[in-house]
Amino acid sequence: MELYDVMRTTFACREFTGEPVPADVLHRIIDHARFAPSGGNRQGWRIIEVTRDEDKQALAELSLPAATRYLLEMQAGESPLNTVTRSSVTDAEVAAAEPPHWLVAHIREAPTLLVVTVDLGLVAAMDKDLDRVGLIGGGSIYPLAWNILLAARNEGYAGTLTTWGAAAEPGVQALLHIPREWAVAAIIPLGRPVKPLTRLRRKPVEEIFFRDRWDGSA
Ligand SMILES: Cc1cc2nc3c(=O)[nH]c(=O)nc-3n(C[C@H](O)[C@H](O)[C@H](O)COP(=O)(O)O)c2cc1C
Repeated sequence: MELYDVMRTTFACREFTGEPVPADVLHRIIDHARFAPSGGNRQGWRIIEVTRDEDKQALAELSLPAATRYLLEMQAGESPLNTVTRSSVTDAEVAAAEPPHWLVAHIREAPTLLVVTVDLGLVAAMDKDLDRVGLIGGGSIYPLAWNILLAARNEGYAGTLTTWGAAAEPGVQALLHIPREWAVAAIIPLGRPVKPLTRLRRKPVEEIFFRDRWDGSA
């Protein structure tokens, strides 16, 4: 596929046919994705392909609490899990809610499932002393994760970058023998999409691109 077509059509796919990504295609996807940048070119990343069904079930279960909170905060009209405004949703409400199993079905039923991890000992987090949530560290792993999705699209496959499981990082680490200093950046279900692609909804350039000042001319 042409690069711009891939960039404009790589959507979040959550429904798959049963067909897994063949080993040679998966190898090719990772072989191209690994050219992603990372701070200082440290490449402190490791991707785990989860093939056992019981592990997929466990990862879906581990994703459920954060998915539950996400949904409740959405229903409360909030921007879920943001670090700027305090949520009105209490832990008790999350614990009492019926878990939204449907929200994690794409992890449970993923024909191919990848867990993307990063060695925090190699990540330069330039914003680590700022009084806000850390952002830069993710820049040393999410280009790789996104490259995986772009390459998958180029190969006729699709998936979703999911992060609910990262909220249960200790559980994921225990399950997959991930060392404590390695963070879980994403859980990516991959496969052949069931639904045909529709046009992606994104803000127009005029709403996101400004001259000279944040509040300059569009
Ligand atoms: C940082 C990040 C975290 C995400 N976490 C989740 C997640 O936990 N579960 C999920 O189903 N989708 C997750 N997504 C997928 C987004 O919901 C999706 O990319 C977005 O809605 C755009 O979808 P579209 O490309 O189909 O329009 C995440 C995406 C990003 C970039």
